[in-house]
Amino acid sequence: MSRRRQLGTMFVLAALCASALAFAAAPSAPSAKGKPAADKAAKIKKGEYLTTIMGCNDCHTPGTMYGAPDMDRKLSGSELGWKGPWGVSFARNLTPDSETGIGYYSEDEIVHSFRTGMKPNGTPMLPPMPWPNFAAMSDEDLHAIAAYLLSLKPVKHAVPEAVPPGKPWSGPVLELPPPPAWDAPRTPPAGK
Ligand code: HEC
Repeated sequence: MSRRRQLGTMFVLAALCASALAFAAAPSAPSAKGKPAADKAAKIKKGEYLTTIMGCNDCHTPGTMYGAPDMDRKLSGSELGWKGPWGVSFARNLTPDSETGIGYYSEDEIVHSFRTGMKPNGTPMLPPMPWPNFAAMSDEDLHAIAAYLLSLKPVKHAVPEAVPPGKPWSGPVLELPPPPAWDAPRTPPAGK
């Protein structure tokens, strides 16, 4: 298991996402044939549902971490930094704004990024983005999420670019303290 992957799974929210996956893996009702518009609407509705229960708003919608999600700016990214050995990362703008969001990606490119942990621009998805959980989802569920994101109201908002390790950053960050002995990663893992 890579260090990046281990770190990604350390976050509390990952547990929420994992339980969501158990549901997402359940087979869904077959869609009616010959009704493409209705099928598309149902797919988007499912994507909305999945992003809600999987905690995407926690990190990607402004205000959620402070108990007051602003749904007028839903999934438009956050300027609260996440600091760790990977540097400082920022939950990005997931609305389809073509300059600051993901509007220039296709549905397939977004699905591919969840499967591989590489952002559509070709750079690794940094923690705490819990992509290892999402990589286990069905194609149908991942496509529903991607279609939903591309159907959102575009919001123009450029989140700060990720800051590499060691480079100073003066903005607000959430930083993990060094782990207590019990939680420290064991090498080799316990039981091996
Ligand atoms: C624990 C916080 C957290 C949660 C929960 C989370 N993300 Fe993220 N996400 C991030 C961070 C931080 C980044 C930026 C990673 C980077 O810079 O490499 C990110 C990046 C992304 C990207 C890449 C965007 C781009 O511009 O390339 C996509 C797509 C994405 N997240 C979608 C989602 C979806 C969909 C969900 C819910 C199913 C979700 N995220 C849940 C924190 C989170």
